[in-house]
Amino acid sequence: MIIKNMQLKSIREVKSLKGKRVILRADFNTPLKEIRERDKAKVIVTESTKIKETLPTLEFLIKKGAKVILLSHLGRPEGRIVAGLRLNPVAQRLIELLGNKEKTEIKPYKSIKISPKTNFTYATDLINKKAEQLIGKMKDGDIVLLENTRFYPKELVGDSEFIAKLASYGDLYVDNAFASSHRSEGTIVEITKHLPSYAGFLLEKEINALSKLIDNPKKSFVALIGGIKISTKIALMENLLTKVDHLCLGGGIANTFFKAMGYGVGDSEIEDSEIDLALKLLKIGAGKIILPADVITGDKKGNKVRIVEIKNEPFAICKKSEGIYDIGPETIGKYALLIKQAETIIWNGPFGYFEVDQYKHGSIALGRIIAARSRGTAFGVVGGGETISCLEQTGMAEFVDHISTGGGAMLTFLEGKGLPGITPLLK
Ligand code: 3PG
Repeated sequence: MIIKNMQLKSIREVKSLKGKRVILRADFNTPLKEIRERDKAKVIVTESTKIKETLPTLEFLIKKGAKVILLSHLGRPEGRIVAGLRLNPVAQRLIELLGNKEKTEIKPYKSIKISPKTNFTYATDLINKKAEQLIGKMKDGDIVLLENTRFYPKELVGDSEFIAKLASYGDLYVDNAFASSHRSEGTIVEITKHLPSYAGFLLEKEINALSKLIDNPKKSFVALIGGIKISTKIALMENLLTKVDHLCLGGGIANTFFKAMGYGVGDSEIEDSEIDLALKLLKIGAGKIILPADVITGDKKGNKVRIVEIKNEPFAICKKSEGIYDIGPETIGKYALLIKQAETIIWNGPFGYFEVDQYKHGSIALGRIIAARSRGTAFGVVGGGETISCLEQTGMAEFVDHISTGGGAMLTFLEGKGLPGITPLLK
C-alpha cells in the first residue's frame, strides 16, 4: 500500500490548538550510555536524531498555545519497571535541545522553565493521581513528559480501558512516532479510537520521503543494503527488486550470499538458515543484485587485514579463524559509479564491521558519496540506527535528503506493507 502525504490527517488542519491538551506520541527510543560524572554514575543519550526530529512538532504546538503531554517508549522493558530505562536521560537531552542553557538537572515532578511561556516537567508515572494532578495544573505552552510507556503491560496489549484512561488526559492525539508505526501498542493504535488523531510533522516527512522511493522513483534507482541479518531484509529486497535498477549488497548479508554460492567464508557473520532464500533471491534478482568484487578480511579485532578479490569460481575467501569484515576498494569504486549515475538512492545497513576502525572504510566512503550526490543531483535516503551512526561519521549527514528515524518501520514501509500506526491517521 502506498500512502501519500496528502492522505494523512495533519496537525496543521486543527483550527485552534490554544488551551488544548495534546497527547504527542514521540519515539525517543535512543541509544544510551552510562558515564561517571563527579564520581556518580549517570546515563546519557548518545545519539539524539529522534529527539531533534520531534522539536518542530513540539515547538509548533507550544507556539499555538497547546498543553503538550509527551509519551514515548524506551528499550524493551516488557511491561516491567526497569530503572535504567526511565526517561530521565531523554528528558535531560530534550530540555537542552529546547534551549535550557543552564543545564538544570531533571528531577521527577520538578518543573523547569524553558522559556517565559513554557515549563517542562518529567513525571515518573504514566497513569496515576500524581500524573493526573500535574496535567490538571498545566498552563498553555507547558510540556509534561510521562514515563516510559513500555513499563505497563496493558500498553503492550493495547488494553482499551487503560488507554481510555490515558486518553482522558488529552483533547487530541498527535502521532509523531514514525519509528514505532509498525508496532500495535496502545499508545500507537488503540488511542486513536479515543481521541481525534493527527500526524505530526516528522511522521508526515517520513511518509512523504519514503513514498518517493516506492511510488515512481526517478531512474536510475540504486539500493545499497548491508547489515548483519538477511532474514530481516528478505521482504525488503524482494520488493526493492521490483523497483530498483541495482541492488548493491554488503555486510553480513553479502556473506550469506557468498556462502550460498559455495565460497568459504570462515568465521564471517552469516545466517545458515537463510541460504536457500539467498539462492532464490539471486535468481529473482539476476542482473540487478551486485555482490562485492573484493572484500576485506581479518580477525575480529582488526588484525591480519587483507584485501581479497572475489573470483568467479568459489574458493575459501578467508581462513576459518578469520572473517569478511568490509567491502574492498574495487567494490567501493564499482558501487560509487552506480551511485553517481543514480537519481534515487536508498542506503540501509553498514557495509562492514564499522565499530572497528580497520573495517569502517567501505561504509564511510559510500556514505560520503551518497551524501555528495544527494540534494539536487539525486534523491538520497539513509535509514536504520547503525547506518545513521556510520553516516554521522562522514561529517556529511546534513547533505542527505532524508535520514529516516525508522529502523523496522522503514523496512516495513519499503516492503510495501501497511503500518498499523499509520492506517488510523489516513483521511
Ligand atoms: C525503533 O527504534 O526501531 C523503534 O523505537 C521500535 O523499537 P522496537 O523494535 O523495540 O519496537
